[in-house]
Amino acid sequence: MPQVTLTVNGKTSTVEVEGRTLLVELLREKLRLTGTHVGCDTSQCGACVVHVDGESVKACTILALQANGSQVTTIEGLAKPDGTLHPMQEAFREYHALQCGFCTPGMVMSAIDLVKKHPDGLSEKEIREGLEGNLCRCTGYHNIVKAIAAAQEVMHGRAQALAPAAE
Ligand code: FES
Ligand code: FES
Repeated sequence: MPQVTLTVNGKTSTVEVEGRTLLVELLREKLRLTGTHVGCDTSQCGACVVHVDGESVKACTILALQANGSQVTTIEGLAKPDGTLHPMQEAFREYHALQCGFCTPGMVMSAIDLVKKHPDGLSEKEIREGLEGNLCRCTGYHNIVKAIAAAQEVMHGRAQALAPAAE
C-alpha cells in the first residue's frame, strides 16, 4: 500500500493509505482526529474544512496522497498547548455562534482563512459570501457572522481583546 507522510498539528506521521483514501478519512480514521466532521457526500457542507499549507480545504475533496508532504492544521491544532483558544474559537464561544456544534470545526477553520486573506477587514456581506461553502442547520448564521466580525479585529491587531457580545 502507498504511504503518505504529512505533518498534522505539528506532528509528522507516515501512514499507509489506499489510493482512494480521502484526506478526511486519514485524519479521522488513521490519526483519530475526529474534530474534522463529515456532513455530506457532495462536497457542499464544509464540516470537513482543514488547513493544508495554510489554505482552507474541504478534506473530503482531496486524496490523502495529494496531501503528501503537507502541513495540515485541524481544529484540534488551533488552541495553544496551555489551552488558550484561538481568537476565532474564543469569538464563537463569546457570541454563541454554535448550537449543536456539528458545523463548527469547519466554520472556524474556514473563517480563519477568510479573515487572514482580508487584512483590511470584511463587511458583514463579505463574511456571509465567504461562508457560502459552509452550511449550518441550526444557528441561522447571524451569530456566526458577528463572531467572525469580532475575531477579525483581534486577529489583525486592531483590538487587544474580543469585544464582548451584547446581552
Ligand atoms: S463532508 Fe466535506 S463538504 Fe461535506
Ligand atoms: S451549529 Fe448545528 S449545524 Fe451549525
